[in-house]
Amino acid sequence: MMRTILLQMAASPRLAGWVTTNSFTRSMARRFVAGESLDQAVQAARTMNRMGRKVSLDYLGESVGNESEARQAGATCAAILERIAAEGLDANISVKLTQLGLGIRQDLCEEILSGIVERAASAGNFVRVDMEGSDYTQRTLDIVRRLRQRTAAVGTVIQAYLYRSEQDVKDLLAIGCRIRLCKGAYKEPAGVAFPGKADVDENYVRLMHLLLPSGIFHGIATHDPMMISATRSFAGQRKISNGSFEFQMLYGIRTDLQEQLVEDGFGLRVYIPFGRDWFPYFMRRLAERPANVGFFLRQTLRPSLRRRSPAAK
Ligand code: FDA
Repeated sequence: MMRTILLQMAASPRLAGWVTTNSFTRSMARRFVAGESLDQAVQAARTMNRMGRKVSLDYLGESVGNESEARQAGATCAAILERIAAEGLDANISVKLTQLGLGIRQDLCEEILSGIVERAASAGNFVRVDMEGSDYTQRTLDIVRRLRQRTAAVGTVIQAYLYRSEQDVKDLLAIGCRIRLCKGAYKEPAGVAFPGKADVDENYVRLMHLLLPSGIFHGIATHDPMMISATRSFAGQRKISNGSFEFQMLYGIRTDLQEQLVEDGFGLRVYIPFGRDWFPYFMRRLAERPANVGFFLRQTLRPSLRRRSPAAK
């Protein structure tokens, strides 16, 4: 229920306006978002690299309203790749196709993404295409598949909550595509996605079993100790080396587990989001964990409760 409400609120421009200008919510968002500028993201990436963690930089933004915004986002992604090379960071980039105009025109989006991927390929880097709501799944996979025929510098994301994902994994493995496996963060109808956590978890493990022995380098993206432990024990049983896949986690979440995995000799990549358009990303993080909302409300209401308390006496 709470998850549904928060995910619906994530689409509200009015709420976005309030949350992104309120000083308390801005400071709270900093737990999940490295900052609004590329300099701040680079600083966070340097820190992660020093701690033995690789990085994926994500310039926040989605569902742009016009072609010029899509092209501007594409130019920013190209600039991030240049900065990664100039700074010698151990980092790749993640992009969302609705930020590159997928909701406007598919050919526009494909043209912009293709330019970014070509730059990444020539710099020996990699572009991960994030997966958004199920309205975009097929188009995202079509675009990634076409680009993957030209270069290995692109990969995508599969969401374990979608019924279709097992077939999508098989199709992507057949073309050698690198996959990030996650549970899925959007509000989806029961017709397309498992509604219950237990089914999503079971499918996550089933898909992980397809990915790990494939000989392709994949990302196991989760903070769930059960999924991590299932992955570690499957890799152990099948003698799949630690270096042939990596775990991935989000900036600011379960940093204890991040540290533990690195200490235990596993590859770990931290997804670092940055930029001004952080509201939908922030709301998805709140939706994932109701305890985050309780904390958020307590902190937000505290000043007004304090102001009211003398009159109440
Ligand atoms: P689960 O939600 O079961 O959480 C397990 C535990 O992790 C919780 O009990 C809690 O301890 C901790 N945790 C999880 N989320 C938290 C939060 N927000 N705050 C505090 N603690 C939290 N999704 C998508 O649809 N498309 C995509 O492209 C991506 N990309 C992506 C990249 C990377 C690197 C990661 C790690 C995740 C994504 N996701 C995503 C998000 C993903 O689908 C999923 O919503 C979150 O990872 C939460 O699921 P978990 O696997 O962590 O398990």
